[in-house]
Amino acid sequence: MYVPANIVANNDLLKYMETSDEWIQERTGIKERRYAQRIGETTATMGIEAAKVAIERAGVSAQDIDFIIFATLSPDYYFPGCGVLLQRAMKMKEIGALDVRNQCSGFLYALSVGDQFIKTGMYKNILVVGAERHSFGLDFTTRGRNVSVIFGDGAGAVVLQPSSSNSGILSTHLHSDGESAEILAMYNPGTHANYWVDQSLADFDKADIGQMFFSHSMIEKAQVFPNMDGPAVFKKAVEKFPEVILEALQTNGLQTSDIKLLIPHQANLRISQFVQKKLRLNDNQVYNNIQKYGNTTAASIPIALCEAWEEGKIKEGDLICLAAFGSGFTWASALLKW
Ligand code: ACO
Repeated sequence: MYVPANIVANNDLLKYMETSDEWIQERTGIKERRYAQRIGETTATMGIEAAKVAIERAGVSAQDIDFIIFATLSPDYYFPGCGVLLQRAMKMKEIGALDVRNQCSGFLYALSVGDQFIKTGMYKNILVVGAERHSFGLDFTTRGRNVSVIFGDGAGAVVLQPSSSNSGILSTHLHSDGESAEILAMYNPGTHANYWVDQSLADFDKADIGQMFFSHSMIEKAQVFPNMDGPAVFKKAVEKFPEVILEALQTNGLQTSDIKLLIPHQANLRISQFVQKKLRLNDNQVYNNIQKYGNTTAASIPIALCEAWEEGKIKEGDLICLAAFGSGFTWASALLKW
């Protein structure tokens, strides 16, 4: 994992917006988050730093990596993706580089793709990265406070390799429901021209063709920030997290009591606590570190996985469940025998 050195406590946000440490902690559990340096630290560079650690711990070199999967919703460029920037910076061979755009579920979607390539024998050392630089794309005024206080910057990475038949990734489970695509979304810049939801997404009335993708009007009207219907996200998240965790267990003939550690996407501490209660898991079975990093979207699961492992909470043979829910909506789980 890699997180920026710059720690931003809840009280530090008071200089931008009306909020309070008490409100943020009570609703989200977050105490502080990290923000990347304004210049010199990007989503790709954070992903590269995490990748270096993962590659070293896997006992391989950057030259051994035969495929890159990079999950992020906050790429350095609109295109190309971060995967090629990492390939260039790490002087890797001319291998495939895939970017995954699945927001909070991004890392698990990426892991699942990598798992299939390993199981077919196509690749032997796949680098899977989740990284986000949210601090560049949030509305830091009081208007955007329901979203901006939640998110932080950081990166995590793993190297996937073939393993013996009774260890490794047992199964992965991916889902989506586009019915709620606009509930947690950043609409602009984009090519939608209000096709999906009439009028509400951007003001195109007087725009000429050159202003349809990105315009001064979008900036002036604050239409270039993420939108979230928090209560609607909460409601769906606490339904789908348990569902997809149980699906993974049932597929493998296992029960919640078999889980050594559940590492949920760090969306919101209240969501994790709700899921823990619903599945009747004890405190030692669920790992949370959103208190320190906020919600780092595609990076949250690999950051939490890394910290849990470094703290000695994951040992060989342990059953680890990873689960995520987020924008799309998309949701996913993975069951691992460590
Ligand atoms: N500081 C102080 N007051 C705030 C803040 C803030 N940062 N944000 C919102 N408020 C105010 C609102 O203005 C509103 O005031 P009003 O009643 O006077 O109008 C009041 O608090 C309640 O606003 P809501 O948006 O309804 O706040 P809610 O109680 O729903 O909490 C929250 C917001 C924490 C986002 C909650 O909806 C939630 O937990 N949602 C789950 C979604 C989530 O966690 N998303 C994370 C990212 S998505 C993902 O990873 C899956």
